[in-house]
Amino acid sequence: MLELPLSLSGTRMVPKLVVLYLFLCLANISLCEARIRHYKWDVKYEYKSPDCFKKLVITINGRTPGPTILAQEGDTIIVQLNNSLFTENLAIHWHGIHQHGTPWFDGTEGVTQCPILPGDTFKYQFVVDRPGTYLYHAHYGMQREAGLYGMIRVSPRDPEPFTYDYEQSIILNDWYHRSTNEQATGLSSKTFVWVGDPQSLLIQGKGRFDCSKLTAPSLDAGLCNLSNPECSTYVQTVIPGKTYRLRVASLTALSALSFQIEGHNMTVVEADGHYVEPFVVQNLFLYSGETYSVLVKADRDRSRNYWITSNVVSRNRTTPPGLGIFNYYPNHPRRSPPSTPPSPPAWDDVEPRLAQSLAIKARSGSVIQPPPTSDRVIVLLNTQNTIDGYRRWSVNNVSLTLPRTPFLVALKHNITDAFDQTPPPDGYDSLGYDIFKVANNTNATSNNGIYRLKFNTTVDIVLQNANTMNKNNSETHPWHLHGHDFWVLGYGKGKFDVNRDPKKYNLVNPIMKNTVAVHPYGWTALRFRTENPGVWTFHCHIEAHFYMGMGVIFEEGIERVGKLPSSIMGCGRTRGFRSNNTP
Ligand code: C2O
Ligand code: CU
Repeated sequence: MLELPLSLSGTRMVPKLVVLYLFLCLANISLCEARIRHYKWDVKYEYKSPDCFKKLVITINGRTPGPTILAQEGDTIIVQLNNSLFTENLAIHWHGIHQHGTPWFDGTEGVTQCPILPGDTFKYQFVVDRPGTYLYHAHYGMQREAGLYGMIRVSPRDPEPFTYDYEQSIILNDWYHRSTNEQATGLSSKTFVWVGDPQSLLIQGKGRFDCSKLTAPSLDAGLCNLSNPECSTYVQTVIPGKTYRLRVASLTALSALSFQIEGHNMTVVEADGHYVEPFVVQNLFLYSGETYSVLVKADRDRSRNYWITSNVVSRNRTTPPGLGIFNYYPNHPRRSPPSTPPSPPAWDDVEPRLAQSLAIKARSGSVIQPPPTSDRVIVLLNTQNTIDGYRRWSVNNVSLTLPRTPFLVALKHNITDAFDQTPPPDGYDSLGYDIFKVANNTNATSNNGIYRLKFNTTVDIVLQNANTMNKNNSETHPWHLHGHDFWVLGYGKGKFDVNRDPKKYNLVNPIMKNTVAVHPYGWTALRFRTENPGVWTFHCHIEAHFYMGMGVIFEEGIERVGKLPSSIMGCGRTRGFRSNNTP
C-alpha cells in the first residue's frame, strides 16, 4: 500500500508530496476517503509529579495529558475505553465535536449516558466532521482536574488560509494538590470549603511547585522533588526563521489565563475550530474550554532562549506563573533565558480582556452568516446563592442537578418521572434585580428541569453576569455549549437591554465558537441553530462552578434521535435496559 501523508497541515510536507497527494486524490477518489482511527485507552490512577509534587492523577495509557487524537476531517474515531479506576465511575466528553447523529456518545454523565463503571469497557464512536483544534476530558463530577484530558487535532481537506512550517499542541492547565474527591466533598458540604487557588500552572502537563513551601511532614515523605524528570520545564524548540503554529488550549479547573512568549508577537488565526480574521497580540487570554491557533515566527536574536509564560488573570493571583522555554536551536534547551519572565497584565483589568474578546472576528472569506433574527431569546442570569444551607451557583435562580437517569434516555424512552418536567424560566426579573449588589436572592432552588427547544429554529442566549455573594466581586465565567457552535454576537457592560443592545449585534462577521467568556458585570450574546437532535449541556467550564450547579440543559429534536445504544444505560430508571453484549 502506498504510504500517504496523514495530514496536509501537519509538520509541513515537501511540496512535491503535496502535489502528488492532490493528484492522487483527483485521480482516485478512494484514496481521499475518510478513515477509521482506532484507539485503545486504559484509564487508571497513578502517582505522578506534574509540578514536582507527587499525587494520585488519572492517566490514559500512563500519560497525562493523554494522547493527542490526530485525524482528518470526516474520519471516524473509535475509542475503546477501559475503566481501571477500581472504585470510580468515568465518562469522557469530546469537547467541540458536534456528535451529529451520535448524541449518545457526547460523554456527559447524567445527560447523555450512565457512568462507565469500574472494570467496564465502553466504546465511543463518532465522526470528526470539521477541521480544527478540539479537546477531550472527563465529564463525571470534577474528574477532569485529576488529569484526564487531551487534545483532538483535525486537519482539513482543503488548504488552510495561512501557512506555517511546523505545528505544536500546548494545553494549559492549573493544578491542585488536594484530590478531586476532597474538593468535591468540601464544595458539597454545609460547612462549605472552597477549593482555593491552584498550587501551580501547567504547560503541556509540566509545572513547578516551590517545594520549600511545604511543611515538614510532606517533605519527609519525599513528596516533592524538584529534580523529578516528570516536572522538567516545558521546552518548545524552534528553528530560527521558521513559523510555528501553536495550538494553544486551556483546560483549567478555575483560572483564566494570559499566555505569552517573551519578545514574540502571536498572530491569532483560529478559535475553537474556526478561522479568525488575523490579529496580533503580545499575550493571549484564554478561558477554560477555549482553543486557539497562533502563528509565531522565530525571528528574534537567535543566540538566546526566551520565556513562555502562563499567568492567572481575573482572580487575584497567588499562584506563581507557569514557565516554559522557547528554545532557539541550537542553543541548549535547558538554558534559562538571560531575562526575568515578562510581567503579566494586571489581574483585575477587564479592559484588555474585553478588547481581545471583541477583536475575534470570523476570517473574511470563511464567514458563516448568522440568521438575521431569532425565534427565541433566553436571558440567563448567573448568580451565587445559598440553597437549603448549601453554597450553589444558579442560572435564573435554578441551580442544576443531574438526575440518576440520563436526560437523553429519559426523554427518548418517555420516562417522565426521571426529572422535573417543568422547564426553567427564559429570563429573570431584570427590572427588579440589581446585578451590582451582593447576591442575596433567597428564592433559588436546586432543580433538574430542562429547556425544550423547537427543532430547526434560531435561539439567542444572553449570559448576564452579576455580583457574587462577596462585595464588589463579579467573576469571569467561560460558558461551553455541547453539540453546537454559536455565533458570538456581542459583549456589553452592565445589564443587557433587550430593546437597545440587539441593535448593536455583529451580524456581519461574528466568530463561531463553542466556548465564550462572560466578563465581570457584563453580558455576552450568542445565537445558534437547533439542528442537532439530542440533549446538550450548556455550562460554565469552571469545574467547581458546574459542580455547584452552573449549567442548563437543552433538548432539541428528540423525536429524530435514532435508537440509543444500550451501552449508555444501566443506571437509574434504565437499570434493566442494558443488554450484556456491548454493541
Ligand atoms: Cu469541556 Cu461540558 O465540557
Ligand atoms: Cu463559572
